[in-house]
Amino acid sequence: MPPLPTTSNDTILEVKDLKTYFFLEKSTVRSVDGVNLSLGRKKTLGLVGESGCGKSVLSMSIMRLIPSPPGKIVDGQINLYRRDSSEVVDIAQLDPRGAEMRRIRGGEIAIVFQEPMMSLNPLYTIGNQIAEVVELHQKLSHKDALDRALEMLTKVQISAPKQRLHEYPHQLSGGMRQRVMIALALSCNPSILIADEPTTALDVTVQSQILDLMNELQEDVGASIIIITHNLGVVSQMADQVAVMYLGKIVEFAETRELYHEPLHPYTKGLLNSVPVLGRKHQQLEPIKGMVPLPTEIIPGCAFAPRCPHAMKICHEKQPVLREVRPGHQTACWLYEDA
Ligand SMILES: Nc1ncnc2c1ncn2[C@@H]1O[C@H](COP(=O)(O)OP(=O)(O)O)[C@@H](O)[C@H]1O
Ligand code: SF4
Ligand SMILES: [Mg+2]
Repeated sequence: MPPLPTTSNDTILEVKDLKTYFFLEKSTVRSVDGVNLSLGRKKTLGLVGESGCGKSVLSMSIMRLIPSPPGKIVDGQINLYRRDSSEVVDIAQLDPRGAEMRRIRGGEIAIVFQEPMMSLNPLYTIGNQIAEVVELHQKLSHKDALDRALEMLTKVQISAPKQRLHEYPHQLSGGMRQRVMIALALSCNPSILIADEPTTALDVTVQSQILDLMNELQEDVGASIIIITHNLGVVSQMADQVAVMYLGKIVEFAETRELYHEPLHPYTKGLLNSVPVLGRKHQQLEPIKGMVPLPTEIIPGCAFAPRCPHAMKICHEKQPVLREVRPGHQTACWLYEDA
């Protein structure tokens, strides 16, 4: 197994060699294929990669929301270090429908999706939806839960929060719905918030407001955040550390500043060169050639080799492993291995 980011008291979540596959009739989709990752307490981790790299399957694995069949966690650990650090639970071993997992889902780890309409129930008012979750996790009366819902709507700076309590999802704009989702997610004081492309469906101004809001709320609530995005601008605005994912694996991991200024992996360099990034001077935009391959075939070497401008013979033959090549900076690439 490749070396891991060191686990300290400051670690809240540690993913070890996680594999989540989908077993289809004619093929096996290796969506998450040996992911190693750690998330610090009160830290924000950015998870980036092109569409189809396995980011959502990874987050759904952590939430134990992978549809099964055909999906299955076939290997690895998802260790959640409880608040007082004295207890650790391997989420990968829990029954997805069991009481423990239901307590964790929403109560300790909450998720915000790209499209809030999919997660909000069109038939319930905003107030009742938040109250229901609070009642379930915090054993409050309906009245107290509604008070908590109002408090949360105020916290996410939604306009006319009292009025929103009685409105239905379709009456709100996209940006407001995303604020409601964040209110819902944070209503039970989770220790981890996973935000999967939370602003992708929103226009640029609203995007920026939502990201600012999440930054502010993190200070307030003290949660750790995993922000998933294909947008490197979002990551630079939010994250303390960044993990770059390619075809089911983490290929680079570093502090955000370091990653932006000293990217090592050719895939990361390609991502940075393909979008305008604030603060990067003299940028020549150049898309990465080719596409993410389907995760159905077993690739003997580096999965990025067919698209990599630096590919060598060994790259097509043997898989590079994720390892630290500078202090706190890990990458999986043969360019940084001594032959
Ligand atoms: N329910 C499913 N059945 C089969 N394949 C799936 C399923 N969900 C996701 N996949 C596949 O897993 C891969 C990773 O998907 P996903 O995690 O959604 O990517 P990302 O979020 O990085 O865009 C894709 O090739 C996708 O087609
Ligand atoms: S291992 Fe080889 S093919 Fe893969 S990213 Fe590094 S140089 Fe390119
Ligand atoms: Mg996704």
